[in-house]
Amino acid sequence: MRNAECKNKEAEMSEQKFESQVPFINSVREMAAVHYSRPLAYVDTYGCQQNESDSEKLRGMLAEMGYGFTDDEYLADVVIINTCAIRENAENRVYGNVGELVHTKKLHPSQIIVFCGCMAAVDGVVEKIEQSYKHIDLIFSPNKLWRFPEMLHSTLQERGASGRVYETGVGEGEIIEGIPVRRDRTVKAWLPIMYGCDNFCSYCIVPYVRGRERSRKPQDIMDEARALVADGYKDITLLGQNVNSYGTGLHEKIGFPEIIRCINDIEGEFLIRFMTSHPKDASIELFRAMAESEKAARHIHLPFQAGSDRILSLMNRGYTHEGYLEKILAARELMPDIVITSDVIVGFPGETLDEFEDTMRLIEKAQFDAMFTFIYSKRPGTPAAELSDTTTREEKQERFDRLLVLQNAISEEKHSRYIGKTVRVLVDEESHDERYPYKARTNGGRLVHLGGSIPTSLGSFVDTEITHCSSWSLFGELV
Ligand code: 5AD
Ligand code: SF4
Repeated sequence: MRNAECKNKEAEMSEQKFESQVPFINSVREMAAVHYSRPLAYVDTYGCQQNESDSEKLRGMLAEMGYGFTDDEYLADVVIINTCAIRENAENRVYGNVGELVHTKKLHPSQIIVFCGCMAAVDGVVEKIEQSYKHIDLIFSPNKLWRFPEMLHSTLQERGASGRVYETGVGEGEIIEGIPVRRDRTVKAWLPIMYGCDNFCSYCIVPYVRGRERSRKPQDIMDEARALVADGYKDITLLGQNVNSYGTGLHEKIGFPEIIRCINDIEGEFLIRFMTSHPKDASIELFRAMAESEKAARHIHLPFQAGSDRILSLMNRGYTHEGYLEKILAARELMPDIVITSDVIVGFPGETLDEFEDTMRLIEKAQFDAMFTFIYSKRPGTPAAELSDTTTREEKQERFDRLLVLQNAISEEKHSRYIGKTVRVLVDEESHDERYPYKARTNGGRLVHLGGSIPTSLGSFVDTEITHCSSWSLFGELV
């Protein structure tokens, strides 16, 4: 019944706008072949999984244009820096590394340097690049990525002239299907189901750089999921800034829980994961869909950001601390073994010590398996940047350190419960550590360093006995 429903929903065909890029792909392939015996590209990615997924598309387009790949920026004919703007320190890292590329370009004057990703859509960044980073040849924002062949074509034609190619700004934010993808890995795959964000949390730059929320058509998602399973991928992560609002704006009425159920119906042994859920839209129906789908991993990443209702309201999060705790209680009722992870921001403008203690209390109550902790970073242009902030850097650091101590103790205690148990894990990475030659993940997504003399291979589901743990990971032997 469900498959039939899915098929109906899949009936709508998506536009194949990417075809407009084919002449440029062919032309770049010819141009590059004239200049280089075998052109090489280097792609450096900062930030979140969405950016990693974008880089896989850039590599896909590069491969179609005849490029091979290198990890050495000195050897590369095209260097791509796919940037992140979420916090100031991410931006500073980018500026540092982009500055270094002056040296590669000196040795390799025909090298093309590309600056893309979220920073390319931030107000003022292009001006800064223009003035201080004259070795950059091409700048484009995330929503223009699909036109990369055309832009690279222009850049190759401009070479030697003074021109640079710019395609910045948020743009219309369409969904373009059919972009080739060259995946980095063989076991785990990213599957974007939506782009952009409409939540406008007051601290966050994402809605300004990635534009309005839009969902891919179910048929396109299902086609890609089926292809991934057929290609042997075992761990599929559905990506979106807020997967729980999937479906808004589509002609057909379909929500994220239905997407999980449809993908669960694809035959094969694999796991479905997703990132990220916004607590305000995480529904009982979502938890039910997870609980009733045997392929849905027992993990939810549900960022809470703050434990004080005043701060949550200033953040424009749309829930209270109680509402948040009720959601995770409901998830645990339906899935007692679910792993819950979260994000928290320390030192939001005006956060008092009492309000910070509210955050500590929430962490005690929620008992997260793991948590990502961030110190608030002012993002110009966002509403929070206008708020007055009297807490000193030192006070913020102190609060941050206290959070870490608390969460590390909780994580370690949670991890210690695995010791002595036999757990089914997916072997997903090789490791350089001789004692633990493989990395694996539990169904709930916890990292396991795998030792033992029994041979295994990437992509296998195996049983492992957990022998010890740290606050970040587990250690196990194959049984
Ligand atoms: N400062 C600090 N942390 C931030 N995050 C998003 N914007 C900011 C900011 N301006 C954090 C949030 C989010 C995670 C991806 O990054 O916790 O969930
Ligand atoms: Fe990802 Fe946000 Fe960073 Fe962009 S700004 S790369 S969407 S985390």
